[in-house]
Amino acid sequence: MNTLILLTLSLTISVSLSKTSQKDGGFTVDLIHIDSPLSPLYNPSVSLTDRLRNAFHRSMSRAFRLSKTSAFRDSKIEADIFGLPGEYIMKIQIGTPPVDVLGIADTGSDLTWAQCQPCKKCYKQVGPPFLVPTSSSTYHAQSCQSESCVVLSDSQLPCGSKNICQYKMGYGDGSYSIGDLATDTFWFGPACFYNVTFGCGHVNNGSFNEHVSGIVGLGGGPLSIINQLNSTIRGKFSYCLISVIDEASNQTSKIHFGDLANVLGDDVVSTPLVMKEPSTYYYVTLESVSVGHNNLSYKQSGSKSTVQDRGNIIVDSGTTLTFLPRELYNDLSSSLTKAISGVAVGDPGRYFEICYLDLNLDNVPTVTFRFTGADVAVPPVKMFVEVENGVSCLGIKPSDGFAIFGNLLQRDLFIGFDLVKQKLSFRPTNCSMH
Ligand SMILES: *[C@@H]1O[C@H](CO)[C@@H](O)[C@H](O)[C@H]1NC(C)=O
Ligand SMILES: *[C@@H]1O[C@H](CO)[C@@H](O)[C@H](O)[C@H]1NC(C)=O
Ligand SMILES: *[C@@H]1O[C@H](CO)[C@@H](O)[C@H](O)[C@H]1NC(C)=O
Ligand SMILES: *[C@@H]1O[C@H](CO)[C@@H](O)[C@H](O)[C@H]1NC(C)=O
Ligand SMILES: *[C@@H]1O[C@H](CO)[C@@H](O)[C@H](O)[C@H]1NC(C)=O
Ligand SMILES: *[C@@H]1O[C@H](CO)[C@@H](O)[C@H](O)[C@H]1NC(C)=O
Repeated sequence: MNTLILLTLSLTISVSLSKTSQKDGGFTVDLIHIDSPLSPLYNPSVSLTDRLRNAFHRSMSRAFRLSKTSAFRDSKIEADIFGLPGEYIMKIQIGTPPVDVLGIADTGSDLTWAQCQPCKKCYKQVGPPFLVPTSSSTYHAQSCQSESCVVLSDSQLPCGSKNICQYKMGYGDGSYSIGDLATDTFWFGPACFYNVTFGCGHVNNGSFNEHVSGIVGLGGGPLSIINQLNSTIRGKFSYCLISVIDEASNQTSKIHFGDLANVLGDDVVSTPLVMKEPSTYYYVTLESVSVGHNNLSYKQSGSKSTVQDRGNIIVDSGTTLTFLPRELYNDLSSSLTKAISGVAVGDPGRYFEICYLDLNLDNVPTVTFRFTGADVAVPPVKMFVEVENGVSCLGIKPSDGFAIFGNLLQRDLFIGFDLVKQKLSFRPTNCSMH
């Protein structure tokens, strides 16, 4: 009886919270921006300006983590340390009966985890319930000898007396989750997968928000959902990000898996995904950036850089801003300022270097990011962010030795990841109509 009530309850919740469809080995889940009115993290009393500023700060913290843990680890970046490990949330269900899990969708980490009872130390969580391993009939703790435990490598903690594999995931800003490595049934709406490996977190602390249960790992590594569901989704997922600034709409972005993730059409361009360590991140090669007819080739100084020519930029949904090496950034900003006739002003928040008052976007040339084999045009409306009344700034930051293609530039592009064919595809799309 209790089980039936629980089941009914969680099914009702999942139906009302998560719109998902499944056909032909594919499924689609909402990807909700944390600042959208549909997000449980949405705070209507925070002004748009402050919301943007917070997103920019999170971006620095995120860039810090990515640069320190990626092939760019020799780069230098200073960041205020705070933020969530991503900008979008995904609703999934774990267990039997299924329990709602609201996770930060993270293309920059692999292991999915959620707060689990009993908590030795958990951050406050409201909204989605804690997972309770003893309440799920399909929960299995993993031994220290299990294949998934071995794959954890650096994230594996010494084996305890119970021979249950212990993981520790750190998030650069001091946030972490420690717990048991386990498997259980995962639900993406009606799409159900058995024995998916995840972390049952009993010690979780840091800058996680009380409305989220943990992380949904969408990286390229073996423990990521993408690789674990490979037999069904065959390495394919895609997303289409709507404008995060559009507060009035109740629309959400979508993330597709499997056959539904195919990015098709005459106007699709593709570039190779470059395999580098760690396999978590999605590296592609940026050959040049052009402003009108002016080609600016990718460059960066520093012979000690570990960055090879191939795979010189990470595509990440969880970083708001785009980061380019200082040398390329300088070329880009001087090309743009030459081309734009407008009133240059300082950024009131002292965050950006190139800002204009009442910028007429019609006077701004289109910037094209030329990835190997894939020219991606970025219209002015995506390059410049209105940070305060009338003040628009170039939403790109210079970096010392690393590059990230952030989510503001990814908006209104249908972006497909194919880990089997090792390619990334782009198609210009109005994601609100997608
Ligand atoms: C899941 O794993 C458990 C224990 O490892 C096993 O007994 C069970 O048969 C598996 N379930 C499925 C559906 O493969
Ligand atoms: C938990 O996180 C908070 C905020 O990030 C930090 O101040 C505190 O020291 C952390 N506690 C432990 C035990 O790590
Ligand atoms: C994923 O599936 C594809 C096609 O079924 C296969 O070619 C590939 O080797 C698989 N990848 C992994 C990591 O298992
Ligand atoms: C968004 O959804 C909320 C709750 O369902 C509703 O009250 C509101 O009117 C909707 N707004 C728009 C612009 O559709
Ligand atoms: C700019 O570079 C691209 C390749 O990166 C090349 O195809 C194109 O012809 C170049 N255009 C000019 C004007 O040099
Ligand atoms: C995208 O579609 C929405 C909804 O139809 C529309 O309001 C918006 O203007 C479109 N955006 C662009 C850039 O065409």
